[in-house]
Amino acid sequence: MKILVAYASAQGSTKEIAERISTRIPPSIGSTDCRTIGGIGQVNDYDAIIVGSAIHSGAWLPEATDFIHKHSEALSKRPLWAFSVGMADALPSIFRKKGAELEEAKMADAVSHDVHPKSHKLFSGVVQPELMPGILRTIFRVFGGRFGDLRDWSDIEKWVDEEIVGDLKGDGSAQVDVNA
Ligand SMILES: Cc1cc2nc3c(=O)[nH]c(=O)nc-3n(C[C@H](O)[C@H](O)[C@H](O)COP(=O)(O)O)c2cc1C
Repeated sequence: MKILVAYASAQGSTKEIAERISTRIPPSIGSTDCRTIGGIGQVNDYDAIIVGSAIHSGAWLPEATDFIHKHSEALSKRPLWAFSVGMADALPSIFRKKGAELEEAKMADAVSHDVHPKSHKLFSGVVQPELMPGILRTIFRVFGGRFGDLRDWSDIEKWVDEEIVGDLKGDGSAQVDVNA
């Protein structure tokens, strides 16, 4: 089986998450290609696809949204998983849980209009203070927001193991007829 991990990343943290997802899938399941969305012409060679994007201004990066629209027919015929990378874990602690729930639901809904991922997962990425406007940065800090590399690698690996590897091993979805 051939598996594609496709990602859209502005600053690189989503790229590294995609690479970790790709290497976490054992060779016994199949071979994986980890590729930036901008360089992908077609997906017909793949039997299963994982697609993810950084979140900017409450939405996936435009190239990731375009990828879903453009390939919706092919993506609908293959096992598909989606992930989003934002900054929920950077929020002040009292907003963190609720903020993550709201953002996860919003991104899952947005990605499910044209296609139907088996699951969608929200991860936190790297939050760089210099990319936040000065006044907002100050307010964010005052109210307990935090910056830095907030990626939870064990959570990322758990998602891959349980949702993707478990599925591809277990329920025969790897045998989906992509030419049907
Ligand atoms: C201009 C800009 C806008 C952002 N907007 C959001 C947002 O709306 N929601 C969110 O959760 N994170 C937001 N973030 C945080 C990024 O999603 C986060 O830093 C992520 O790790 C970026 O991934 P990348 O390194 O692959 O580009 C934003 C970051 C930038 C620079």
